Amino acid sequence: MISELEDIKQQIQGLDPVAALSLLANRFAGQIVFSTSFGWEDQVITHMIFTNDLPIKVFTLETGRLFPETYYVWNRTMEMYEKPIHAYYPNNELLEKMVNTKGPSSFYESVENRKECCGIRKVEPLKRALAGNKCWVTGIRAEQSVNRHDMHNLEWDEQNNLIKFHPIYDWTLDQVKEYIRIHNVPYNTLHDRGFPSIGCQPCTRAVQPGEDFRAGRWWWEDQSKKECGLHEVHK
Ligand code: ADX
Ligand code: SF4
Repeated sequence: MISELEDIKQQIQGLDPVAALSLLANRFAGQIVFSTSFGWEDQVITHMIFTNDLPIKVFTLETGRLFPETYYVWNRTMEMYEKPIHAYYPNNELLEKMVNTKGPSSFYESVENRKECCGIRKVEPLKRALAGNKCWVTGIRAEQSVNRHDMHNLEWDEQNNLIKFHPIYDWTLDQVKEYIRIHNVPYNTLHDRGFPSIGCQPCTRAVQPGEDFRAGRWWWEDQSKKECGLHEVHK
């Protein structure tokens, strides 16, 4: 796999994101997916995939706890591009068991409970979404956090046994905003109200100017514990 990764790295070197996505879509025909949480990075990639008719399946993890603004932009996106966005829901039994024993807001009580909730609402559905695929596209950017600085735009994902590609990994936030403006891409209006990173409603708050991009995610927890299990950090 490492040799395949190196081979692809060479092939996509110097290509723009659309050309790289197109190359990967051909190479992994029917086995390449893109995960969107409808944040502005994801909306840029969604626009690239849909307007270029790239054969990449777009999916979202519907945790059941998203912001109304997120559902709104999801709907707008489907209307605008007239393309499918596949929703993966948590396993009913697991979710009912957790909520029935711990209540609907157990995530505030301990890191363990929070990880259990992310596990049930995001990670287990993610496994189903990725099953049988060879390439997973995400909207991760280096600038988003200290951890993400040390990643690469193409990496081998040990946990899920596939190649992960971040087509706008090197983009700055200004580049993302500019792309959205030029191409008239629908975006989550929470971004205009101090939310650079948007997850579930109970676990995301606005940040102050100068604060870290991800400071509003699980803000009550220790910095070091703020991982939800979707993305393991490879260094
Ligand atoms: S997280 O690990 O903190 O939740 P973040 O919000 O930064 O991730 O998003 C990084 C990338 O993870 C997004 O660009 C998207 O590809 C994926 N992602 C995050 N949340 C979801 C979700 N609910 N559904 C689908 N993909 C998601
Ligand atoms: Fe649960 Fe919060 Fe994780 Fe969403 S972000 S899955 S509500 S703990």
